[in-house]
Amino acid sequence: MKQLTINGSEYNLDIPDDMPLLWVLRDVLGMTGTKYGCGIAQCGACTVHLDGVAVRSCQTTVDAVDGQKITTIEGIGDTAVGAKVQAAWLEKEVVQCGYCQSGQIMSAAALLSENSRPSDTDIDDAMAGNICRCGTYVRIREAIHSISL
Ligand code: FES
Ligand code: FES
Repeated sequence: MKQLTINGSEYNLDIPDDMPLLWVLRDVLGMTGTKYGCGIAQCGACTVHLDGVAVRSCQTTVDAVDGQKITTIEGIGDTAVGAKVQAAWLEKEVVQCGYCQSGQIMSAAALLSENSRPSDTDIDDAMAGNICRCGTYVRIREAIHSISL
């Protein structure tokens, strides 16, 4: 039995230690906001936070998250930074197809939690692992710059 803390709630789950966190979120708990893209930590669609740090949940086993607080796209709007990121995304109309965007928002929120005034280079470095096939990168950068914390 594994105990996981996700978005402030505790879950006791009968799951294998080596199950990827993404599988737990989507298939066991039905939290489908976190997306499956590549499964090999190359696209960023599955990004969640572990104690506020952005990680790829497709390559993170439940064993590796023991005792850490997990935040997903379903919970990020309850944080001050996450709420501002979501508002900026709406204001700047960042989203195109949307598939990559929960991962983009999670990476942006993690960046802004560490660095409230990131430069273009800081943004590009922090967001480099989040691929958008619709090419929304310019609006993502604009939205991040528009946020004041
Ligand atoms: S699905 Fe995890 S990085 Fe692509
Ligand atoms: S908005 Fe379509 S992949 Fe990013």
